Amino acid sequence: MIEVKNVSQSYNRHGQRKTLEDINFSVREHTITALVGANGAGKSTLLGVMANLLPALSGSVLLDGTDVRRVKTNAMAKKVAFLKQTQLLSIRVTVNDLVEFGRFPHCAGRLTQLDRDKVSQALEYMNLTELRERYLDELSGGQRQRAFIAMILAQDTPYIFLDEPLNNLDVKYSVEMMKIVQRLVSELNKTVVMVLHDINFAAAYAGYIVAMKDGRIIREGVPEEMITRETLRAVFDFDFRIEKYGGKNVCLYFDNE
Ligand SMILES: Nc1ncnc2c1ncn2[C@@H]1O[C@H](COP(=O)(O)OP(=O)(O)OP(=O)(O)O)[C@@H](O)[C@H]1O
Ligand SMILES: [Mg+2]
Repeated sequence: MIEVKNVSQSYNRHGQRKTLEDINFSVREHTITALVGANGAGKSTLLGVMANLLPALSGSVLLDGTDVRRVKTNAMAKKVAFLKQTQLLSIRVTVNDLVEFGRFPHCAGRLTQLDRDKVSQALEYMNLTELRERYLDELSGGQRQRAFIAMILAQDTPYIFLDEPLNNLDVKYSVEMMKIVQRLVSELNKTVVMVLHDINFAAAYAGYIVAMKDGRIIREGVPEEMITRETLRAVFDFDFRIEKYGGKNVCLYFDNE
């Protein structure tokens, strides 16, 4: 269980300008939670604090009842896998090497047969088996993104945080990605928190939507409650048109005046 309690954060040393302001929420188990909101709303910062990669100014994040600041790095890496919004990797590695990194919290660098099997499964899941010996800098942006997601899968943690995982993916792979994430929840019992910019992907695949604005959570609920003109205007300062499609609300964002 992950609970965020009264979390505030600031990138200024003395906390002059708050990036997160009094965040409270509990991550729903075995569900996809979509974190949505405008650029700069604080989504990546919140995930960073939840994964204990960024310190909170005040408040706490509890992982199964323990403050994440007191969870050792390796233990944390077995609980939470985090795909960051931008991946900085300065060494030249193959897809296979990258996915093996996902197993390091489990094997401390000495891969067992189980670890190799998990790597192969993750590559298979992401349709990367044929590309496994390629270097990352020899891949397209979308293939590279899939390789990073395979690494997250290989890490095999109960909690998965994905910051804009659809970056660089074409429509087919975006849909496949969301289906894979759904299967992680339904077949493997994972709990996923993911930042999504395309509100229709959130509406179609997430079980719960948390909307942030200016460092605060301003609305949260199931998609049917969240995909309304009024809520989306409050979150994005933008008028969406809402239509019904297959019994679900979808939003359109073309200016057709
Ligand atoms: N390392 C940093 N140092 C200083 N300010 C930062 C840093 N990272 C982010 N910020 C600021 O904190 C605020 C929240 O940023 P954050 O990256 O959490 O937003 P976001 O919701 O993820 O936005 P996006 O949709 O653009 O990724 C922004 O005003 C941003 O400029
Ligand atoms: Mg971000």
